[in-house]
Amino acid sequence: MKTIEARYDASALAYRTWWEPVLRPTGLDLLDRLGRVAGGPAGRVLDVGTGAGLLAIEAVRRWPAANVIGLDGSTEMLAVAEATARADLPPADLARIDWLRGHAQELPFEDGSFELVISSFAYQLVPRLTPALAEALRVLRPGGRLAFVTWRIGDDRFDPDEAFEDALDELDPLDEESAAEEARNGDLTSAGAVATRLRRIGFRSVVAREAWLTFDHDRATYLAFLEEYAERELFADLALAEQRRLRAAATRRLSRLPSAAFRWRVPVVYALARRPESIEREP
Ligand SMILES: C[S@@+](CC[C@H](N)C(=O)[O-])C[C@H]1O[C@@H](n2cnc3c(N)ncnc32)[C@H](O)[C@@H]1O
Repeated sequence: MKTIEARYDASALAYRTWWEPVLRPTGLDLLDRLGRVAGGPAGRVLDVGTGAGLLAIEAVRRWPAANVIGLDGSTEMLAVAEATARADLPPADLARIDWLRGHAQELPFEDGSFELVISSFAYQLVPRLTPALAEALRVLRPGGRLAFVTWRIGDDRFDPDEAFEDALDELDPLDEESAAEEARNGDLTSAGAVATRLRRIGFRSVVAREAWLTFDHDRATYLAFLEEYAERELFADLALAEQRRLRAAATRRLSRLPSAAFRWRVPVVYALARRPESIEREP
C-alpha cells in the first residue's frame, strides 16, 4: 500500500490539471470567509498541505503584508507549487512565499510563530486529526487564527463512478483490490463535532459551518479525468489490451448518462478558530 505522500508524489502534475480546479472555488471561499471575520493578516501565514499551492499563492496575492509558507509532505507537489508560483506571481509577491516539506502532525516550527494557519482539503489525510490540529494551535501566536476546509462524511454515490465500476465489472477477472480508495482518516462527521474538537484542543471563537462543494464535470473528459488522475493506478496496473477494453466499456456506459449526472455535489465543513491569549484546555 502506497503512502499518501507517495500517491501525491506520483500524481502531482495531474493533480494540478484535474483536481485543483475542483477544489479551487471552495478553497478561495475559505479565504473570503476568513477575510470577512478577520480582515487581511499581516505577518507569517502557514498553508498546511499546500498541494499545488492553491491557498498559499492566493494568500500572497490577497494579503500584501503576509509572508506565506506552503508546507506539504510531498516533494513533487511542492515542486509543482513552486513552478506555478514562479509562473503566476510578480517578483514582489514571489519574494513573500516559501515552500517547505513537512507534516501537519509534526510542524517544523517554533511555538507561537504564525499569525494564521490555513488549509484546504489536507486535514482529512493526516494520521490523526486531533494531534494535527493541536500542532496548528502550538505554532499560532496567542490571538492567531486557524481556518480550514475539508470533507464531511457523506453519501459518495456518483452515477459516472457507478458507470465506471460497472465497466470494470465487465472486465472480469480484474482484481478489485487495484481500485483501492485513497485512505482519508479525517473526513469530518459534522460541523458540530469539529467545533467541539477544536474547543477541547484549546481553540476559542470557533465557528464551523457545513456547505456543499459542487462541480460540473465534463462528460467529454470524464474518462480522461479517471484515467489520468482518479483511477491512474488502476489503469497503470492493466495490460494495454485490458485498458482498451475498459476504455470502450466505460465510454459506452458514460455516454448513456445525461449531462446533469456529471454534477458532483459533496458536503464540506469550513472551520474558523482562534488561539486564545492564554491556553486553557477544556476538560
Ligand atoms: C487534496 S490535496 C490538497 C492540496 C491543496 N491544499 C488544495 O486545496 O488544492 C492534499 C495535500 O495534502 C498533502 N498531505 C497529505 N497528508 C499530509 C500530512 N500529513 N502533512 C502534510 N501534507 C500532507 C498531500 O501531499 C497533498 O498535497
